[in-house]
Amino acid sequence: MYFQYVLAERTFKAYYGMIGEVMSLRVRLVVVTDIRGIIARNENDPVNWSSAEDKRFFKQITTESGLVLMGRRTYESIGRNLPGRINVVMSRQKEINLPYRPNYLVSGTPQEIVSFLRDKGYTDMCVIGGQSVFTEFLNAGLSTDIYITIEPMIMAGNLNLFGEISNDLHLKLERVLKLNDVGTINVHYRILQ
Ligand SMILES: NC(=O)c1ccc[n+]([C@@H]2O[C@H](COP(=O)([O-])OP(=O)(O)OC[C@H]3O[C@@H](n4cnc5c(N)ncnc54)[C@H](OP(=O)(O)O)[C@@H]3O)[C@@H](O)[C@H]2O)c1
Repeated sequence: MYFQYVLAERTFKAYYGMIGEVMSLRVRLVVVTDIRGIIARNENDPVNWSSAEDKRFFKQITTESGLVLMGRRTYESIGRNLPGRINVVMSRQKEINLPYRPNYLVSGTPQEIVSFLRDKGYTDMCVIGGQSVFTEFLNAGLSTDIYITIEPMIMAGNLNLFGEISNDLHLKLERVLKLNDVGTINVHYRILQ
């Protein structure tokens, strides 16, 4: 019975060529890096170095998605909820002591969180960092897209986009956008499963 279901689901997904997205949640990783793939000078450093054009792009894509998911450190570094979007924050603490509250405070594996959000009726989400959350979602094999903005800069510091990756992943280039005159670009890849 279970085997039949898996086969049917695989055929369905292969037909549409959108594995992980059909009957499920679209999970887009949205990030800005320097040319070395650095996302922050250190784990407490806010993203205050990206271009106005990237900030506009980020707002557009996350608002279109409607839901942003982030780690507790990223949430604290942003210092507020992102308006017009459902804010979901991952933390192993029961409560986080801040003057503002996310729509959902969640804990668990990416699979558990995706299933929780799918059960709530969401069909699209943007994972917006930081390193630990990007890495967990990529390793879980649940991510469907990566939108990476590359700023033309080399940043002091050492927090990479990803930590340890467990398996090779292949990507397909969907779109490259030049966002401004100094050469900030955004690259959209679909993750092939
Ligand atoms: N350039 C960019 O696009 C970008 C984007 C986002 C963030 N950043 C930067 O990245 C840095 C933060 O990254 P980070 O990796 O240090 O931290 P993070 O991923 O933002 O947050 C880590 C925290 O998330 C919680 N968490 C992670 N996995 C969890 C799980 N499976 N279940 C429950 N809770 C979980 C834990 O919170 P508790 O400790 O509360 O349990 C953990 O300490 C900051 O400097 C930020 O500015 C850059």
